[in-house]
Amino acid sequence: MKVFVVGANGQIGKHLVDMLKASDEHTVSVMVRKQEQVEAFEKAGVEAKLVDLEGSVSDIAKAAKGCDAIVFTAGSGGHTGADKTMLIDLDGAAKTIEAAEENGIKRYIMVSAIHADSREKWGEGTPSYYMVAKHHADRILKQSDLTYTIVRPGGLLNEPGTGKISLADNISSGSIPREDVAKIIFDSLTNEHTYNRSFNVVSGADSISDALNK
Ligand SMILES: NC(=O)c1ccc[n+]([C@@H]2O[C@H](COP(=O)([O-])OP(=O)(O)OC[C@H]3O[C@@H](n4cnc5c(N)ncnc54)[C@H](OP(=O)(O)O)[C@@H]3O)[C@@H](O)[C@H]2O)c1
Repeated sequence: MKVFVVGANGQIGKHLVDMLKASDEHTVSVMVRKQEQVEAFEKAGVEAKLVDLEGSVSDIAKAAKGCDAIVFTAGSGGHTGADKTMLIDLDGAAKTIEAAEENGIKRYIMVSAIHADSREKWGEGTPSYYMVAKHHADRILKQSDLTYTIVRPGGLLNEPGTGKISLADNISSGSIPREDVAKIIFDSLTNEHTYNRSFNVVSGADSISDALNK
């Protein structure tokens, strides 16, 4: 598969790009928003497209042309307010879904957030506008004809991955290394058990492969 990674310069994104680069099965193309990021990826041998999520759907579609899957792991970041969160985490994600549809790209993996699916669990620690953005981006994806996987991680950590996770709809809290989230995305790309599924995920006792195949 040729995988188009949106948010490739981010922390999960970089882990995922490294895994895709090292893979015999996949190739990778990245979408980044700064010229210096394009140059850094190209220097590392990775195809890179300069497109901003605040730009047009047609620019995103043009950049993703020829790819077989899109991974959305972008986000406006915790330092931004509601306006950027809506523009990136909600509308930016929606634009990439439209771009996938325009290009006939069927496979789509979304990095969402734990509890984005359950409004009754919002309110503690995380701004409601962030959960609203994630919730509705996920809904738009579910209502599309794309073959989706929605990964809803708990708190993200910069520790090395352990490869051990707990994956379910009803996990109440927890955290997970970004490297493990990247591996879950990587392993989900062609794993049919993950097609048209969404799940919360935190560190736990199961191997990633066992958890995805349950
Ligand atoms: N923090 C948590 O505990 C937590 C928990 C659950 C889920 N999540 C979600 O996990 C995802 C990935 O997390 P992460 O830590 O890897 O994020 P990150 O390091 O902040 O990376 C986000 C990426 O999005 C890119 N981006 C932002 N605005 C953009 C725009 N206008 N156009 C194109 N790209 C843009 C950023 O580009 P630049 O590199 O140019 O800034 C960055 O590379 C996010 O969706 C986040 O909401 C986070």
